[in-house]
Amino acid sequence: MKPNILRLAAVILFCTSVLAVIASVRAQKPPPGQNEIAVSLSSLGIAVPAQTPAAPAAKQEKTLGETGKNIQVLKSLPESQLGTVMQYIATSMGRRCDFCHVNKGGNNWAWELDDKAEKQMGRTMMKMVLAINKDNFRGNTQVGCYTCHRGRNQPNSIPAFPLPTRLPGSQPAPSPPAAGQPTTAPTPAPLTADQIVAKYIDAIGGQAAIDKMKTRVVKGTFAGFNGVAMPFEADLAAPDKFHISVTSPQGTQERGFDGQMGWEKGPRGVLELGNPILDQMKSMFSSYRNIKLKDEFASFRLGGKDKIGDRDVLIVSGRAADNHRERLFFDAETGLLLRRISFTETMIGVIPEQIDFEDYRDVEGVKLPFTVKVSSVEPGLVSTRKYSEIKLNVPLDDSKFKMPPAPAKTTP
Ligand code: HEC
Ligand code: HEC
Repeated sequence: MKPNILRLAAVILFCTSVLAVIASVRAQKPPPGQNEIAVSLSSLGIAVPAQTPAAPAAKQEKTLGETGKNIQVLKSLPESQLGTVMQYIATSMGRRCDFCHVNKGGNNWAWELDDKAEKQMGRTMMKMVLAINKDNFRGNTQVGCYTCHRGRNQPNSIPAFPLPTRLPGSQPAPSPPAAGQPTTAPTPAPLTADQIVAKYIDAIGGQAAIDKMKTRVVKGTFAGFNGVAMPFEADLAAPDKFHISVTSPQGTQERGFDGQMGWEKGPRGVLELGNPILDQMKSMFSSYRNIKLKDEFASFRLGGKDKIGDRDVLIVSGRAADNHRERLFFDAETGLLLRRISFTETMIGVIPEQIDFEDYRDVEGVKLPFTVKVSSVEPGLVSTRKYSEIKLNVPLDDSKFKMPPAPAKTTP
């Protein structure tokens, strides 16, 4: 086998994350170092980061203090957050793992060694961040590595000339209307958070049309971090049955859930799918995700205004029953959901994951996005799904969602 195929096989074998598994089929030409990282992270048994809303971090989980080899600061970090947190640190620094960790060639890492001054400095910085938050922000993670570093190992502490010229508030004040002229038209009362969510439901077709959606068949492409698009198919049946497949030159990778049992079929054969992967998949591919927002969140409140591209958006902050929070961005004019950002609060930084919804089209009375982009500090989670076809309420046989029998072994 060629080395890159070997690596690919290794990624597939070891990937622990849902999207990483789908995405892993992607990785023919990852940026230098990136693929090894994915492999080594997962070969270490580093669990999937708790990023999807349905997979909150804590379930009496082991901490890094218990499982790590040379952990001095991040002792209480849930083990499942290690991968994301390290990726977040690397991203904050604009560097890769080898900036701080010793690589003994290829996929052979000695994560626990303290040989590099940068790792030691990293530890000093972790203590500093913990102290800043403890002393000033009641222990809430307000300051993280990214607060100062912003993608550079040596943050800018001194203003550099030329300074930005247009500071907020520096625009001349608008001249007052001449006497006798009417002032600006009365602005309509701003919508409440619940009204914005209700407007979205109407914008995509209304509750009745949504409730009629029982199955969804989707065809299109899936592209991971390297942007190479591969055929992608998904069959969903309400409320939570799914069957997805991604086809790469190396073969087809499938995953499914029949309401009771999750499974995968691919290079490793046919396997039962356990948690936390199954939970993540269920949250990602449940029929009404992004649609029945009131089922996903216990409460909503206003989160301000912003722009996405040239669109004005209204932001709603959603809080789930387990306290997980997300920011939802709705198009101020059309009411459509354009973006959601979920936040994982960790000891040394708040780590975002963003999903963008584009290219809404009408499918039998319901408006659905035909492009879904996931952005993350984890390259393995970065993906773009572009659909060419979505069909609603096609009858789907239940066998589609059931674990297939293991393929008969072929003798060479
Ligand atoms: C800025 C420096 C820095 C970067 C970049 C960095 N790490 Fe770390 N890493 C550390 C420090 C410091 C520790 C030890 C934390 C402690 O002592 O609490 C650590 C610990 C670890 C551990 C646990 C080792 C043990 O002792 O059990 C693993 C695994 C790890 N890092 C993986 C990675 C991966 C994978 C990347 C790249 C995505 C990465 N790190 C990037 C600084 C860094
Ligand atoms: C309050 C601002 C601030 C925060 C927050 C911060 N750093 Fe730093 N960091 C700095 C500054 C300033 C320097 C440069 C120090 C110097 O040049 O001597 C630095 C330098 C470093 C270096 C050495 C870089 C090199 O090129 O040798 C590492 C590694 C580092 N920081 C890691 C981290 C990590 C990891 C975090 C999060 C746990 C973090 N920093 C959070 C301000 C910060």
